[in-house]
Amino acid sequence: MLRFGVVLTYILLIYFQTVVGIWRYKNILEEKELFIVDRNIFLEYEGSSFLEWQYPEGCDVNNKSSPHAVMWCKAPGFQAVKPLLSDMSTDKEEERHLYICDSFFRLAWYAVIPLLRNASEHDSQEFELATVLAWTDHELYKGGKALDWKTNSSYMSNILSIPKTATILTAAFGSHPASLSALVMYTDSVQLSVLTSYENEGVWKNRTLWSKNVLQGPFQMLFVSAALETLLVWNKDTMLYSFHNDSEWRYLQIMDSSNLSQEAGGSHIHHMIIDHSLNMLVKMENNILFFCKFGTNKLFRLPTWNDPGRSVVLYLNQKEQITMLTMLDRSLHVQKYPLQMEIRSAMREEVHSCPYIGFTHNMNRPVYYIDKGEGVELWAQIVNHEGENINVTLSRNKDHVLHITESTHFESAHHLDTTNKTFNIYQDADYRDMTNNSDLIWNSSDIVSMELLPTQIANSCSLPKNRISHFFVGCPPNRHIRVIKPQRTPCQMHTFDNYTIPGFVLSNSSKDLLVFYDWKSFGCVLRIHYKDEFRPDIELYDGEAFVRSVDANFIVWENFNRKDYYFNATMRQVACLHEAQTWKSMLVDEKRPEEAWGPHNYRSCFVDTTEKLGNLDQPYEIMNRSSKNYLSFSEEYNAIYVFNLKIVDPNYSFCNLRAVFAVQTYGISMVDQLSPHYQFLIPFLISLILLCFLFYRYTSIFRDMLQKKCL
Ligand SMILES: *[C@@H]1O[C@H](CO)[C@@H](O)[C@H](O)[C@H]1NC(C)=O
Ligand SMILES: *[C@@H]1O[C@H](CO)[C@@H](O)[C@H](O)[C@H]1NC(C)=O
Ligand SMILES: *[C@@H]1O[C@H](CO)[C@@H](O)[C@H](O)[C@H]1NC(C)=O
Ligand SMILES: *[C@@H]1O[C@H](CO)[C@@H](O)[C@H](O)[C@H]1NC(C)=O
Ligand SMILES: *[C@@H]1O[C@H](CO)[C@@H](O)[C@H](O)[C@H]1NC(C)=O
Ligand SMILES: *[C@@H]1O[C@H](CO)[C@@H](O)[C@H](O)[C@H]1NC(C)=O
Repeated sequence: MLRFGVVLTYILLIYFQTVVGIWRYKNILEEKELFIVDRNIFLEYEGSSFLEWQYPEGCDVNNKSSPHAVMWCKAPGFQAVKPLLSDMSTDKEEERHLYICDSFFRLAWYAVIPLLRNASEHDSQEFELATVLAWTDHELYKGGKALDWKTNSSYMSNILSIPKTATILTAAFGSHPASLSALVMYTDSVQLSVLTSYENEGVWKNRTLWSKNVLQGPFQMLFVSAALETLLVWNKDTMLYSFHNDSEWRYLQIMDSSNLSQEAGGSHIHHMIIDHSLNMLVKMENNILFFCKFGTNKLFRLPTWNDPGRSVVLYLNQKEQITMLTMLDRSLHVQKYPLQMEIRSAMREEVHSCPYIGFTHNMNRPVYYIDKGEGVELWAQIVNHEGENINVTLSRNKDHVLHITESTHFESAHHLDTTNKTFNIYQDADYRDMTNNSDLIWNSSDIVSMELLPTQIANSCSLPKNRISHFFVGCPPNRHIRVIKPQRTPCQMHTFDNYTIPGFVLSNSSKDLLVFYDWKSFGCVLRIHYKDEFRPDIELYDGEAFVRSVDANFIVWENFNRKDYYFNATMRQVACLHEAQTWKSMLVDEKRPEEAWGPHNYRSCFVDTTEKLGNLDQPYEIMNRSSKNYLSFSEEYNAIYVFNLKIVDPNYSFCNLRAVFAVQTYGISMVDQLSPHYQFLIPFLISLILLCFLFYRYTSIFRDMLQKKCL
């Protein structure tokens, strides 16, 4: 039987005998805060013993004897509100302490950015993550792409089959974006196991949790998104959760009992939700709600919001608001649940006080991209009452990929301690001296998840929504290089369609080559005087965003194998310590230029090695932003060159950084251009004319002589 993890299946029709009065409220914004300005707070009472609303002086109610009334408050702060019930009633209604904010603004707006499972992924790849898991006793399936009903056979794919001696109890997506897990029981073992795999790897890792006696099924589980895997497992009465890759297990408790059922009048756990700020709500079948900040293990009960007999499910909408879906009169009603207000109202007592006053940080992007040699600086600040021993921790899942250095700025004033921790996150592998098997390392990318939290939290603490960010170590999306067009150099488009390269300047053939210029991929041609030297300057871009000028070493090669361009510096002039790499030395084995030379086999000539000194009077064929090494062109004819450019510094980027630029030289007259071909003709022509002249002279003299003889 397939058990789909879809919200609607949660809706169970449970009926209870007792019906008590309940009351709730809402406002139009339905956000965390209620504002004093013009905001109507709608009060509603469900039940039969209502008399009137009891409310403070600072507020007004349109009709206090109506169970559906509207309230306005003119004064900020906590406002105690409750319904007064008739004397006959044995119910005692709970008082709510609604916190009304003093707000300057009369309207609020927000943008909704959908937090999809794929949204935080690197586009970490052309890899689509699954969004649905389904399982049978021995098989696990995933589904991802939009469901195409015509070919729905391919929607789900089998990702795990286990032997008959084992049973899949439940499955869930993991703490990390690409991971998924199945809870498995083996018939011959008393231990429960979790099988975990990364979707892009497909390798299943097994780890045992605890014996079947600790908690008995049927089980449900949920991984809390975290840097270190955090798992929550529960049956109908008890919840257990793990910390830090299962190194620590705790029961979620109410008072001193670990059994939620007892505290909820015998009702069972229906389901639970947890938002990005670690607010966790456990909903019982009779609609009793328990709350805790995940990580503290003490749950506490929130005021009743719904009739115990009603079918209700909770879900988080895309704005991270908790929403209630209620079945009423055979139709579904959607209603926001003001969790923050309810927590605030219920936790006014001192017992719940938070160990800190404020916690802020600037780790606010879901993904940070870190290329070679780059880093990210983050800070996190915590403010607390003097003497509370509290700090900030940055946890992460892969220690070896990134380096972190920390520095702390501490300040104490007016009995308040302020700790500002700065984290420098960087990647410092040295890719320069990699040996032959370096290709893998050189290109390998990785994702590290990091999480920022105070060292202690309590139920009343507020946490920023961004707690986790993923650090993608690799080539950032759309990163590329561009050759800058020098300002005074004209760059022309569509001035010709084709041109011919004479065979004697080609390195790979002696036949003339007709080139059809591809304006779309080669771009404009830079018009350069034939006597001028030229060195391309390069800039790094992420999409359309300029990143920085590139100072790394690069090489060029002519796209059509022209060899009539030169470098004006020699290896000696640039101070090489030994003979540098050249196209000639790299192009052995008849490799194509694209593969022959690059970051994977680049060796600097400025590093002292035991290599032989060699001939340092050869041209140096590597350029960079600061080098005195320039390209020079043929001085015999105007020519068109299409250059490919590639960065060869292995330490520079994970990306394959290449560009194309084209040069058209000018300044040589047509006659001068002819000379190389026809130079040898001129002495020949002169000789020929001279010969003709001599022949003519000779024949005329001869004819004269003949004439004279005849006479
Ligand atoms: C106030 O509410 C009560 C109960 O719903 C209703 O009977 C009464 O007519 C209302 N008064 C006004 C002025 O609307
Ligand atoms: C914390 O320190 C960093 C620099 O170390 C600074 O840029 C940041 O603004 C500080 N944070 C706060 C809230 O002052
Ligand atoms: C390569 O880059 C790393 C990281 O920036 C740096 O630590 C290392 O010194 C660099 N190597 C060389 C030879 O410049
Ligand atoms: C080359 O381009 C010229 C016009 O620029 C055109 O007249 C000629 O036919 C083209 N040659 C070929 C072989 O297409
Ligand atoms: C190469 O040409 C550039 C630009 O003309 C010049 O600045 C540089 O000094 C030349 N390099 C050498 C080694 O002559
Ligand atoms: C740039 O090239 C010059 C030699 O032309 C060299 O001395 C310098 O170290 C190179 N710069 C970089 C960043 O490699």
